[in-house]
Amino acid sequence: MTKTILGLSGSLRRASFNAGLLRAAAELAPTGAKIDIGSIRDVPLYDGDLEKADGLPPAVLVLQEQLQAADGVLLVTPEYNNGIPGVFKNVIDWMSRGPGLQMWVGKPVAIIGASPGGFGTIMAQNHWLPVLRTLRASVWTEGRLMVSQAGKMFDEQGNLTDTANRDKLADFISGFAKVI
Ligand code: FNR
Repeated sequence: MTKTILGLSGSLRRASFNAGLLRAAAELAPTGAKIDIGSIRDVPLYDGDLEKADGLPPAVLVLQEQLQAADGVLLVTPEYNNGIPGVFKNVIDWMSRGPGLQMWVGKPVAIIGASPGGFGTIMAQNHWLPVLRTLRASVWTEGRLMVSQAGKMFDEQGNLTDTANRDKLADFISGFAKVI
């Protein structure tokens, strides 16, 4: 049976390296696995008053449905100021509300990311660990992928063109797909 991975990129930028990395991951998924790319675009800023008045926003309900149906989650994280971008953390915070909290428990989660610098999101990837531990997710740590010097690895539309990184990404996804 085909395994489904919910893939989320934490950038709204049109030519985002991280969104491009996620698209490449979906292209390179091995036989027996597919990556469903979730959209974070319409998720509002978390507001407890909004939640109390209207419940979970429609974009969050869609993401939670995808999370529920997924065998694993792939977080493709940018790095801002050596940490998790607020845009991305906001999405995961919303997704942990209501029935979402239980959906994360035991869910296999893998983390990758791309940045123009030399360390390729290593700090942001580490910052996700206490968050995912709190959610009681099962973080997959066997594989590691940090795409550094992203300006040279992607084209102007944000497509991953570097063959060495595409090969590493294919290995990463097939390793993750094996354990979910
Ligand atoms: C950055 N960027 C960045 N990169 C990095 O490797 N380490 C960092 O600490 C930061 N800090 C940072 C802060 C802020 C506020 C911004 C806007 C950017 C650069 C970042 O990696 C770059 O903008 C990427 O292009 C963001 O990812 P996407 O949008 O291309 O996916």
